[in-house]
Amino acid sequence: MLRFDILTLFPDFFSSPMNQGILMRAQNSGLIEVNVVNIRDFAPGKHRIVDDMPFGGGVGMVMKAEPVIRAIESRKQSGINGRVILLTPQGEKFQQEMARELSGWEQLILVCGRYEGVDERVRDHFVDDEISIGDYVLNGGEAAALVVVEAVSRLVPGVLGNEESARNDSFSQGLLDYPQYTRPRKLRGIPVPEILLSGHHQQIELWRKTEAIRRTWERRPEFLKQEELGEEERRILEEVKRTNR
Ligand code: ADE
Repeated sequence: MLRFDILTLFPDFFSSPMNQGILMRAQNSGLIEVNVVNIRDFAPGKHRIVDDMPFGGGVGMVMKAEPVIRAIESRKQSGINGRVILLTPQGEKFQQEMARELSGWEQLILVCGRYEGVDERVRDHFVDDEISIGDYVLNGGEAAALVVVEAVSRLVPGVLGNEESARNDSFSQGLLDYPQYTRPRKLRGIPVPEILLSGHHQQIELWRKTEAIRRTWERRPEFLKQEELGEEERRILEEVKRTNR
């Protein structure tokens, strides 16, 4: 069981996405738990103020430390192996490898910062990791937290069915997917590659591997590290390069 606690100023952001498809199924089967916590509930006073002007001046507002710290502390449980993660464009870039590592923890507390920033003392003393989902700027960490929950949950054993997780394995071998087709055989005059209709399973496997390698070479050549390729894959890659020129 992996438990996510999402700390946010916009809890409603998560209601629909957490109740669809695989994420909903995973929660219903008790494989993951997702709690959404409103940071504002931890702000004192009648006005429940969560942000303030930056010391030193400048534009924008800064998220106050105390409500965030209290929200974090309210979710921590002794004896549970967890991480506190701040979503921010300044974090380490989120990739499949990191998703795999995170899927091994018992609890992930995801803190959604607003773009202008969170008081640095939160980061320095109450956060374990900072994650960015890519080099672009979002309005806040919410969409990023959703990405993390989805990518990590898929890797929790049992969340995907057997077939789904087998496909996942083939992707994480570091190649892009091969092209897929379904009926009709001819769409507005455009046929399906003949080989896929042939019933020759071995040849189909070889075609798929070749197309996966071709695609990877054309679009993401940096994925094709010689030392990580098997003998057959190297041979196919040479053939792809030779025939594409
Ligand atoms: N908050 C704003 N932009 C972000 C990004 N790219 N990744 C994670 N958190 C963010």
